[in-house]
Amino acid sequence: MRWIPHDRLPTVAVIGLGYVGSCVAATLSDRGHDVLGIDTDTGLVDELTRGHCRFHEEGLPESLARGLAAGRIRIATDQSAVSAADVVLITVGTPVREDGSMADDQLAGACEELGRHLREGQMVILKSTVPPGTTSTKVRRALERPGLAAGEEFGLAFAPERLAEGTAMRELRELPMVVGGVNEDSTADAAEFWRRGLGVRVITVGSAEAAEIVKLTDNWWIDLNIALANELARYCELFGVDAHEVIPAANTVPKGSGNVNVLIPSVGVGGSCLTKDPWMIWHSAREHGLDLLTPVAGREANTAMPGYAADRILSGLRRLGKAPEDSRIAVLGLSFKNDTADLRETPVLPAVTHLDKSGADVCLFDPLVAPADTERVFGRAPAASLEAAVTDADCVAVLAYHREMEAVDLTALPVSRPCLFFDGRANLPREYVDRLRDSGFSYEGVGR
Ligand SMILES: NC(=O)c1ccc[n+]([C@@H]2O[C@H](COP(=O)([O-])OP(=O)(O)OC[C@H]3O[C@@H](n4cnc5c(N)ncnc54)[C@H](O)[C@@H]3O)[C@@H](O)[C@H]2O)c1
Repeated sequence: MRWIPHDRLPTVAVIGLGYVGSCVAATLSDRGHDVLGIDTDTGLVDELTRGHCRFHEEGLPESLARGLAAGRIRIATDQSAVSAADVVLITVGTPVREDGSMADDQLAGACEELGRHLREGQMVILKSTVPPGTTSTKVRRALERPGLAAGEEFGLAFAPERLAEGTAMRELRELPMVVGGVNEDSTADAAEFWRRGLGVRVITVGSAEAAEIVKLTDNWWIDLNIALANELARYCELFGVDAHEVIPAANTVPKGSGNVNVLIPSVGVGGSCLTKDPWMIWHSAREHGLDLLTPVAGREANTAMPGYAADRILSGLRRLGKAPEDSRIAVLGLSFKNDTADLRETPVLPAVTHLDKSGADVCLFDPLVAPADTERVFGRAPAASLEAAVTDADCVAVLAYHREMEAVDLTALPVSRPCLFFDGRANLPREYVDRLRDSGFSYEGVGR
């Protein structure tokens, strides 16, 4: 090993303490590493320093608090102390622009500053999702200077972050880590760091580009597979068939290393990754003269879902003899998927916008989302409680269904009966659906 110490745990700097960086910093600290967390967002740094964690992730606040109390986590707004770290992880945001190209200002800023502090003997690992070639061109160029070459004086590798929000802390300790360096030494040291650092299986690939494409492939597959599930749901509806009956049955055929594995249809795909990574793939292919069809098809199918769900709600109300403009719709669950408070690119927003246009009185509630965040994203305050949201509602639309909502007996809600129950992501089992129907609800859902 060239850059990782043999006789002690490496010290780590994490540049970018957003969702991913906070989870990675907290987990490495729990594993005994000294971690310096760096973020240019002074508000976030203040919060973290005070022990407040804005990310709703099981186990994260406790883990951060433990690290801070033990002095294993220190937090800063600049990289002046970064040269003390053995390993530097970069976890800044990499959104895309309108044309699908990576908006690289966060990455460029982080690398430019790191370039000023980097010293011989450090190992730099990029974890942010990037188009192929970013590590070995853009990042390398920003970090190298005379006498300080990547793969020689310092190690440089890409190791994608593949955790999913809602299960991040568990997945960080369980998911295999993929590692590809700019040369063999970089791959070997980065692999050793993750093997010891997280205790996970490490899969090494032959280049940083291969590791970059692994990450993009995962999200390409997931978005496209959900698109298949969503179009399948719409297809099933034409024939009065429940997609939730079809999918488990279809998924019993062995194929490749597992079974056919169609995912679950829903009100749509959101979050900061699946909504942009397919475009990153599409754009980087285009730059090399290849016109990819599937990333676009997946995005288009999934982007259509909020409007489709909203139309189903409006037609469902009409079937009950209720004019949308005279109806009250309670939207429960606002985040981009179950068990997260993250509103980034939530499909609930376009669904609500569509419902608003019908003239319906749409009120919002989510037990996980802070009221200020609801106001910022949806332009209105949420109802004060679940009960306030659903009282006298003509429709209850569950568009994200968190564990916290499972304890609520939905059949007993104080709605105006008959009431439309629209299931956008709860995937309620058949018996529950029967009980809802018995208690005066007309149940509909995506694919049902
Ligand atoms: N959120 C997820 O579930 C997830 C999962 C896997 C991979 N990823 C990828 O991981 C990366 C980070 O995602 P995220 O969701 O944590 O993003 P985020 O927006 O929550 O966090 C990025 C953080 O980087 C900080 N930052 C920006 N420029 C900086 C600089 N120059 N120096 C220090 N800090 C800086 C920002 O202030 C912000 O706090 C992205 O590439 C994303 O695609 C995200």
